[in-house]
Amino acid sequence: MLDFRPLEYKQNENSITILDQTQLPGKETYVCLKTVDDVYNAIKNMKLRGAPLIGIAAAYGVVLTAHSNALESILEAADYLGTARPTAVNLFWAIKRMKDVAVKSKNLFEELLKEAQAIEQEDRNACQYIGQYGSELVKVRAKIMVYCNAGALATSGIGTALGIIYTAEKQNKKPVVYACETRPLLQGARLTSWELTKNRIKTYVISDNMAATYMPKMDLAVVGADRIALNGDTANKIGTRGLAIIARYNNVPFYVAAPLSTFDFSIETGTEIPIEMRFEDELRKFNNKKIVADRAEIYNPAFDITPADLISGIVTEKGIIEQPDRTKIERLKNSGLNEYL
Ligand code: MRU
Repeated sequence: MLDFRPLEYKQNENSITILDQTQLPGKETYVCLKTVDDVYNAIKNMKLRGAPLIGIAAAYGVVLTAHSNALESILEAADYLGTARPTAVNLFWAIKRMKDVAVKSKNLFEELLKEAQAIEQEDRNACQYIGQYGSELVKVRAKIMVYCNAGALATSGIGTALGIIYTAEKQNKKPVVYACETRPLLQGARLTSWELTKNRIKTYVISDNMAATYMPKMDLAVVGADRIALNGDTANKIGTRGLAIIARYNNVPFYVAAPLSTFDFSIETGTEIPIEMRFEDELRKFNNKKIVADRAEIYNPAFDITPADLISGIVTEKGIIEQPDRTKIERLKNSGLNEYL
């Protein structure tokens, strides 16, 4: 299973090799990142993406600077990486961890490397637990609708939403996945279909506007998250909110799968989550060809907010929070499981 790594830090070269996700599924191209600018651009241009993975990339991005720079420049580089994308809180969570280590450190490179490796390993473990807990929601031959890509391509492990599916497959439940294509960048069509079929999971890709028609046939819908507020409101790829509404209308359980690093305990509700606006051309063009009239304006937010009351539960590495609300999430916060938020 999983014979690819979306990101690998190479200590002998002090560089990061990433699988260029903009080239999938056509080409499996690996790109070497050597500078903080390389890492910033790879995140911004979505050569690598997914909330946990951009946090891990930023952590190693800080390591790249640590050999030859003084503390002040390292902290500057860390802040710069934090401007690459605004919504996924994992990015800021990882950067804060790296900065906290840097300011206390006597041996910058070694200690920063150790912290980045810890962030990567913790994410791998979290995916494993999310898979275990989440697989309890999956019955034999379940039909599951997913959105965007919350898989191995978006984490250092087996993924969050897709981690549940891989775990269910391992348990011989033979889940069947309906992956929404996820306009405009097609993470569902390009990336989710690539990694699921590579791992021999039966996968149908449907266009986003087919979701309402197919939802009544589903046993479960599960998505990832970029940031979860204290009351359970969840930011994820634009279109997730619509899917949650469709799931509720059809009485299909709608679950979010996310590690604790995706919770932002400092904000009360989803209205406080900054939504990334992306380049116009992502919508204006398709395959580099203009498909929108020149005079038409473009509106291209990358994420939306799904209100907590549309979410049946949040699958975390500590268990499933059924019908998430402020009290339950505060309990998680107060258990001191994640001192960085
Ligand atoms: O814009 P992207 O491709 O980075 O958006 C990714 C998502 O919305 C994922 O669902 C989310 O980051 C969770 S990945 C485990």
